[in-house]
Amino acid sequence: MIYATLPRRVYIETYGCQMNLADSELIGGILDRSGHLLIDDLSSADVVLLNTCSIRDNAEQRIHRRLSQIRETKQANPGLVIGILGCMAERLRSRFLEEEQLVDLVVGPDEYRKLPALVEGAVAGEKGIAVKLSRVESYDEIIPLRTDGVGAWLSVMRGCDKFCTFCVVPFTRGRERSRPLASVVREVEGLSARGFKEVTLLGQNVNSYRDGASDFADLIQSVAAVDRSMRVRFTTSHPQDFPDRLVSTIATTPNICNHIHLPAQSGSDRILSLMNRSYTSDQFLRLVGSIRREIPLVSFSTDIISGFPSEKEEDHQMTLDLLREARFDGAYTFKYSPREHTKAWQMQDDVSEEVKGARVSEIAKLQHEISLALNRRLIGKAERILVEGPSRKSDTQYAGRTDTNKVVVFTRSSESPGEYCSVRIREVTSATLLGDVVADSDSQPERKSA
Ligand code: SAH
Ligand code: SF4
Ligand code: F3S
Repeated sequence: MIYATLPRRVYIETYGCQMNLADSELIGGILDRSGHLLIDDLSSADVVLLNTCSIRDNAEQRIHRRLSQIRETKQANPGLVIGILGCMAERLRSRFLEEEQLVDLVVGPDEYRKLPALVEGAVAGEKGIAVKLSRVESYDEIIPLRTDGVGAWLSVMRGCDKFCTFCVVPFTRGRERSRPLASVVREVEGLSARGFKEVTLLGQNVNSYRDGASDFADLIQSVAAVDRSMRVRFTTSHPQDFPDRLVSTIATTPNICNHIHLPAQSGSDRILSLMNRSYTSDQFLRLVGSIRREIPLVSFSTDIISGFPSEKEEDHQMTLDLLREARFDGAYTFKYSPREHTKAWQMQDDVSEEVKGARVSEIAKLQHEISLALNRRLIGKAERILVEGPSRKSDTQYAGRTDTNKVVVFTRSSESPGEYCSVRIREVTSATLLGDVVADSDSQPERKSA
């Protein structure tokens, strides 16, 4: 009789990385299967779930601010159930229930199967907590609740064993585990049948994927073979797990995209070693060079942390040098944020906020120049794009992406989301390409040669 009052109207809000976006679809799948109704509007919800991120302190502060807003909704609707899911739930556990009285549920990333029971308990007035990490949970047979569209996310592995000294992820997501190759392939077949045109394989270290004898190169090859008109992307890659065979697989498989997100974190070997990143800046640059030799049209993006403990001006200059040499197409730069339980938490956070901020701006300025210079080289060239839909600024302007993951904005004539077309690039900024559609009878996603 527990389910007599179903469906509950459940509203989910997602913060953090793509893995969390994929997890929210999984949570949607679990709740949908047990008879609940997923809705887009907080004000008519019976249950609100925040799928949270702990990567930096500001990500957590945002959740606390969001909870104070939701407190007002709860005053108007005292029966509203409020749940915290994801990395913050795992990190703070019962502390969350103690510190935020209005929270009813705290559920970590490996416990989502318990949500239907926990939600019912919370509706009946019981606070619920489930935060055990698992060595095996991969939610393998759960079908995520996805909205139809052009691109889909698909988590192929969970957790992280790298233990970079600054990073909370190994503590919030637990040990690495991969989904069986055959079941990933089956899910991609389903996506193809539903009309998805792009799939992004996800994992904190997606390229350390392993299923018995199969590695990430095997997986991505099998996924790409499902439907050659579908693009395959992947993120995030750790420089340590990039064997030549993976590079040649990307190089020789037309529908695997030529874009690699390869976080460098720093250009100083001293800092890289303190971070436990397992490569030197030289090894990093050699990897970038060898990938470029095999895949001349490849694009790279990276992540950089500024102000790691003991980082001096000379270390920062080495990071700028790395950016100049690597010539990434884009870089995300973050101020170092100390995270409890990590090794770096024991180190003194001795770079001031002001210096961190100044270094981040300097990195952003240099990267802006590099991105702009790289994009300018595309002016006059025809780029094959997958159309995604109206651009952010206007309905007549459409946007799509090159296989190198650059956003292209163009004036729409008859193109629809999910179609490929060629666009001749007319103008560029550091972040966007603008162009005009050119006639092209080819329906294939892309070519590898210039
Ligand atoms: N698994 C990926 C990245 C995961 S987190 C990898 O290994 O590359 C995304 C990015 O957040 C990281 O690449 C790092 O640049 C940044 N980050 C992680 N912990 C951080 C911290 N404590 N302070 C600031 N930035 C951090
Ligand atoms: Fe964090 Fe390092 Fe694992 Fe990436 S590889 S998730 S930065 S510990
Ligand atoms: Fe954040 Fe957890 Fe992803 S800490 S970046 S949501 S793995």
